[in-house]
Amino acid sequence: MEGLSGEGIPATSYAGRVAPLVLGLETSCDETGIGLVRGEELLFDAVASSVDEHARFGGIIPEIASRAHLEAMVPTLDRALSEAGVRLADVDAVAVTAGPGLVGPLTVGVAAAKALALALDRPLYGVNHIIGHAVVDTLVHGPFPERVMALVVSGGHSSLLLIDDTVDVTELGSTLDDAAGETFDKIGRLLGLPYPGGPHIDRLAREGDPEAVRFPRGLTAAKDQAAHAADFSFSGLKTAVARWVEARQDAGEPIPLADVAASFSAAVADVLTAKTIAACQAHGVGTLVVGGGFSANSQLRDMAAARCADVGIDLRVPPIRYCTDNGAMIAALGAAVVARDLPPSPPDFGVDSTMPLTQVLA
Ligand code: KG4
Ligand code: ZN
Repeated sequence: MEGLSGEGIPATSYAGRVAPLVLGLETSCDETGIGLVRGEELLFDAVASSVDEHARFGGIIPEIASRAHLEAMVPTLDRALSEAGVRLADVDAVAVTAGPGLVGPLTVGVAAAKALALALDRPLYGVNHIIGHAVVDTLVHGPFPERVMALVVSGGHSSLLLIDDTVDVTELGSTLDDAAGETFDKIGRLLGLPYPGGPHIDRLAREGDPEAVRFPRGLTAAKDQAAHAADFSFSGLKTAVARWVEARQDAGEPIPLADVAASFSAAVADVLTAKTIAACQAHGVGTLVVGGGFSANSQLRDMAAARCADVGIDLRVPPIRYCTDNGAMIAALGAAVVARDLPPSPPDFGVDSTMPLTQVLA
């Protein structure tokens, strides 16, 4: 079949040659991400976001995100190819987010990836978005050691994963209710901040006193340690912050926004870091990877750095642009899967909005 660049391209065999060039497509939420990775080297990563189109609704509207992906897909792909200095015909394998995420947005990416893989006659890998949030770090800090602990914190997930050989995942725990980013976005709405509230609370928190209010730390009591040592819960904290703010409002008192933001952020960062480090110690793991959109949070970054240094854990956190959704993370995971000779996804694989975190490939 003719390649999309107009040249006839035979299927390539990678044996004994430079590492294969993997194209990664990400469309699980509101970012259209295209990444190009060769081995563990990122050639280019282009992202188009529809976040501004959702702001006035206070949350992501899947239909708007799907349409935006459709419009952004080809221009973003063209930009990534030209910036990376490669042709579509040079791509050796295609990877795409198969889940978890929003069904409509995921479907746009998977349909585009299937069309590309078919037209180019290349293998296609439907990969797990959440595992991509951890594996993207290999592009920045090099290959993972044999076993790492990964804390993936985003708008939809807060999960602790034990990862062996980069692609073999055991889920140790997850949030029982809201994800860390989701909690920030809800508290942002409560405080009257624009959507998504996470980055706004982070900014406010830097000017506040993290000890001004002692908010609850969910699932940290001794009684929770047995059943929920590696699980999180943020809904009690969310309610506590709402009650505290309402009590001030009812009393006609001003809300010390920066102090509330700092104290709330400190509670989330405290729980995430304490439980994660305890899990590293319980499993004898010396390397911690933190990823996902919420790992942009400065209190989490600072607290994780200080606490990991105290106990001798090697902390790896990618730069912020690789923490939020992007195509590089999908290309990185695709490249890891290709390097391990895992079989491509079946041609009729579908999107999986609740793809289990232990499943790397569709
Ligand atoms: O991973 P991501 O880009 O999308 C999902 O897969 O969910 O994560 C987005 C989430 C949002 O909830 C956003 O508010 C939060 O990450 N976030 C932050 C910060 N930057 C992004 N939360 C707190 N502090 C930040 N600096
Ligand atoms: Zn994400």
